[in-house]
Amino acid sequence: MTDTLIKGADLLGRGRADVLIRDGRIAETGSLSAPGARVVDADGLVLLPGLVDLHTHLREPGREDAETVYTGTRAAAKGGYTAVCAMANSYPVADTAGVVEQVAALGRAAGYADVQPIGAVSVGLEGKRLAEIGAMAHSAAAVRMFSDDGHCVWDPVLMRRALEYVKTFGGLVAQHAEEPRLTEGAQMNEGAVSAELGLPGWPAVAEEAIIARDVLLAEYTGARVHFCHVSTARSVDIIREAKARGANVTAEVCPHHLLLTDESARTYDPVYKVNPPLRRDADVAVLRAALAEGVIDAVATDHAPHAPQDKDCEWAAARPGMLGLETALSISVLALGGPTEVDWDLLAERTSRTPARIAGLDAHGRDPEPGAEANLTLVDPAASWTVVPADLASLSRNTPYAGMTLPVTVQATFLRGRATVLNGTIAEEIQ
Ligand code: DOR
Ligand code: ZN
Repeated sequence: MTDTLIKGADLLGRGRADVLIRDGRIAETGSLSAPGARVVDADGLVLLPGLVDLHTHLREPGREDAETVYTGTRAAAKGGYTAVCAMANSYPVADTAGVVEQVAALGRAAGYADVQPIGAVSVGLEGKRLAEIGAMAHSAAAVRMFSDDGHCVWDPVLMRRALEYVKTFGGLVAQHAEEPRLTEGAQMNEGAVSAELGLPGWPAVAEEAIIARDVLLAEYTGARVHFCHVSTARSVDIIREAKARGANVTAEVCPHHLLLTDESARTYDPVYKVNPPLRRDADVAVLRAALAEGVIDAVATDHAPHAPQDKDCEWAAARPGMLGLETALSISVLALGGPTEVDWDLLAERTSRTPARIAGLDAHGRDPEPGAEANLTLVDPAASWTVVPADLASLSRNTPYAGMTLPVTVQATFLRGRATVLNGTIAEEIQ
């Protein structure tokens, strides 16, 4: 592989430098010339560690009509990601070593982003019996994170046993916090808008009650719990208090919960249906502040592609979930103050370094320094773009941002020094 010289990039907003990539790693930074190297002109661009997503639904195996590992990781690369954690709610469920190894192998074959499978906590996501957690941990996929996402690990005994199990090898449980009895039939956030629209509500307390319980279980077992898609102000309070006591918990927020509210449901457009649902303005404000402060550790997309027949229908029949990978960086920049105000180092912390640490992906989330694997993203802070669903790399089209103009474009993404995206275009062959 020829060397690559990234010329004149602003390294995480700290100042300009050249970066030389050789054999998949960063060889040197500074004021460099490298005869024979491919030169990437990065004048005016910001260089970040490649983004890492803790929460991606790649839909393969089983729903290849919505997304595949290939299309999903191309969408990831386009969005500036170099690694994604693939959720377990595929068909069959990723509850055995065989399935997680298959997903990891598909990721390697595609070559657009590292794919770290997440294993199911329970067999078939049914919440009854523990899945083969040990076999998945010891498989070639080396699973560390376990989640029944889409469903809450509701049974406190099952949750306790899962925590005790993952603790033995330094793993963690990523909880989709939703008390199921409190959300039966729920269609949107419970509040003034749901009352007006006559849609059954999903009350904030259904999330908060499980987070509170699992904070206690994390403290009791000493195991690690990660909270998926935190969506309410009160959840943030509970997590803040838990961290102050030293509980071993982390939390993510999704881009859509940082921007959109339950007011969107007035359109009755199912593109806005998501689980947990879009909340109130006051929640958005608290989530943004908590992300900046670090009570919320990371941005995670909950990229949830759905086939047309599952979304282009009436609200109540539609599946919950929306695309996220190709728009997450832009929305994160917006949520952290906009392209001229954003602290790039903080953005890198929340979208790359911390998620890499939570997932145990040691080669990712590394600053561009000599010796580090060249997993990098080059962004143009001055170039905005308009979201055109037909232009997305994802196989699905369910983006809530269609027609919106968003700040910041991804100019290039490098995975171990290979350009998966260059000049804003996905590489058809990774070289
Ligand atoms: O909106 C959601 N969609 N929330 C989830 O928890 C699951 C996800 C999916 O798989 O579509
Ligand atoms: Zn979920």
